[in-house]
Amino acid sequence: MPSSRTIPLALLIAMAACSSDGGGASPAPSGVTFPPSFMWGTATAAFQIEKGDVHTDWSKWTELTPSKIKNGDKPDDGGPDALNHVDEDIGLMTQTGQNAYRLSIEWGRIYPTRAAMDADTPDADALAAYDSEIQKLRNAHITPMVTLQHFALPDWLSDVTQPQQPQGWERPETKDLFTQYCGRMAKHFGAQVDWWVTINEPLVTVVTGFIQGGSPPGLALEATRAFDVARTLARAHASCFDAIHAADTTDADGDGKAAWVSVAKHERTFHPDDPTLDDDVQATAHVRYLWNLWFLNAVIRGDWDDDIDGNYTGPKDVKGDPTLANRMDYIGVNYYSDTIISAHRGVVIPVVNASVMQDHLDTGRPKTDVAWDIYPEGLRLMLEEDVKPYGLPVVITENGIADRSDTNRPRFLAEHLYQLGWAIEDGVDVRGYFHWSLMDNFEWQNGFCPKFGLAAVDKATGARTLRPSGNEYKSIIAAKGITTKDIAALGAYVTGDFCP
Ligand code: FCB
Repeated sequence: MPSSRTIPLALLIAMAACSSDGGGASPAPSGVTFPPSFMWGTATAAFQIEKGDVHTDWSKWTELTPSKIKNGDKPDDGGPDALNHVDEDIGLMTQTGQNAYRLSIEWGRIYPTRAAMDADTPDADALAAYDSEIQKLRNAHITPMVTLQHFALPDWLSDVTQPQQPQGWERPETKDLFTQYCGRMAKHFGAQVDWWVTINEPLVTVVTGFIQGGSPPGLALEATRAFDVARTLARAHASCFDAIHAADTTDADGDGKAAWVSVAKHERTFHPDDPTLDDDVQATAHVRYLWNLWFLNAVIRGDWDDDIDGNYTGPKDVKGDPTLANRMDYIGVNYYSDTIISAHRGVVIPVVNASVMQDHLDTGRPKTDVAWDIYPEGLRLMLEEDVKPYGLPVVITENGIADRSDTNRPRFLAEHLYQLGWAIEDGVDVRGYFHWSLMDNFEWQNGFCPKFGLAAVDKATGARTLRPSGNEYKSIIAAKGITTKDIAALGAYVTGDFCP
């Protein structure tokens, strides 16, 4: 792939112009309010909260490569066991006034074997468990949002014991099998579900699986293969989108639309390591394009930058490809934090020609327990600069903080919601906010150490206890807004309780 220097100058200038801190379209409001129909929710993922998702690559991965998981934690050892605590969890939601919940359905639980997938004989208990949960949510007036693939894949499609063979999204059959699964799930659950997420954080799958090597298939710095997987994921989303719309024709929410389909796209802010260094500024613009814009350009505008170089002049590039365009009914955004980009310092990723730093950043900002910067303004800046131009409704499908003492979470919540309300005032059409997460869970490579829950989970009994931040969320939801005065009354951030 060509270097970042081949990005057209006009694009680089536009990108650089957007990346300054504190700049917003309007002055800071003294308070913000949210629309009456706003979705207030929390988000979870099946593998992180259920027990017994053993027919998944992630389950095998935690068994076979314990050294890749903090403290060798195993997902079934002390997690929230959510399918057996549905009533308690819905109780937490109603107690705090939430009206929406993002959950995922585990493909490998529904179809534990390839034979079951081929014969379309889904596991009856699995379907019944999700049916019952979704019905209970509906009975409690909580709108379900369903993710179809949240990092884990069935082990019959992604075999971590055979890493020398292509696995998961690298296997030629995966996209079509995924599309079938999307259509079947949309048909089965469509009468109860209108809000869908096809794939969670497609580009995170690419980075953790092929660049960092921390998740299946566990390859390190395979940037060329990573780009191939990114291309596959964009096309898999588009075909899953079509399959959902073909199968889900029931408007469960009565808003005139039977299905709202998106990915949950991890979006970040980006800053150069040394803003006086031309190389760092260019690398920052390039990584920002790769991360925040490339995928969305493809599945919203059909602008397919096949060689991922920032222009549409390559032999396989297409503008306005009808097989990809208009495959997002809304933009699901996961936002956590800021990123520092260097062209020289740190581990420079081949092909991308930059190093990407996400934790322990030398910015002076307060940090979470996993050392990510707490950067609420970034949520608004990213939305206004990178997401608003697509002109689609937006849902924050994840935003949250690892904070086991719950010292920082109340302020984190209030400040992020304030910035979100400000973005709405500036014309971003935000329809909902799903906090990550309802309860503490298995945080992939980080095991059980980071506590992201509004509720704590007792390791031995599975009992949930709402944290003070749960009450903070409750009062913001009740007020449908937040003021700077409310925020000033909250405790200051404290940094340093890092996960050991
Ligand atoms: C996101 C993932 C989610 C959770 C949070 C902390 O990247 O989508 O499953 O692990 O990070």
